[in-house]
Amino acid sequence: MLKIGVLASGRGSNFQAIIDEIEKGKLKASVEVLITDSDSAYAIERAKKHNLKYLFINPKEFKTKDDFFSRIADELRSSGVELVILAGFMRIVRKPLIDAFRNRIMNIHPALLPSFPGLHGQRQAVDYGVKIAGCTVHFVDEGMDTGPIIIQAAVPVHSGDTEDTLSERILALEHQIFPEAIRLFSEGRLEIKGRNIRIKDQPQISSSIVNPPLSMIADSCRH
Ligand code: GRF
Repeated sequence: MLKIGVLASGRGSNFQAIIDEIEKGKLKASVEVLITDSDSAYAIERAKKHNLKYLFINPKEFKTKDDFFSRIADELRSSGVELVILAGFMRIVRKPLIDAFRNRIMNIHPALLPSFPGLHGQRQAVDYGVKIAGCTVHFVDEGMDTGPIIIQAAVPVHSGDTEDTLSERILALEHQIFPEAIRLFSEGRLEIKGRNIRIKDQPQISSSIVNPPLSMIADSCRH
């Protein structure tokens, strides 16, 4: 059973998608702790509802950002966490946490990286006029949304789309690929070579993961 720790700043719908997959028995993992940087994060309500441990760590109580992230790393370690999930955590993770969990921190980003990193990936996509948008699960390194890519999923951009309509379409896929990436990790199927990730024993891309079918872009290499 993989022990995960979740960091979230707000709504927590990705957190919910992960909880749901665990409760359905499809993801062999347990949420050991939810840590938020905001005491009004709705993610806390979700943790309460599912009887999960949660903790608000106030960034204002720390002299430096590194101190804040050291404290988070300490909490995660003492909870026995093996994989850290950034589910809408609106801060750039600093070295003390990255070093403590190297290649064991996953983030979801609402764009097809390396396009449109940073805030408002969906708005950037609409403004730029791309025809295909999507989301990316990646490991976290020192850069902003630059770490090795695990899974991506694509959606069409329709004429007349707004940031909101596109965000909604992308979010439905986020809720599918994030638990899937965690599942692959829990099964020991992610092989990291530099910034390339191979998925072991993946006979074919599962079209049931995304809608429309075959819009999921993942490494399907066999070993
Ligand atoms: C998602 O769009 C995610 O891609 C981005 O922040 C948003 C979080 O949404 N990193 P939620 O809190 O999981 O509902």
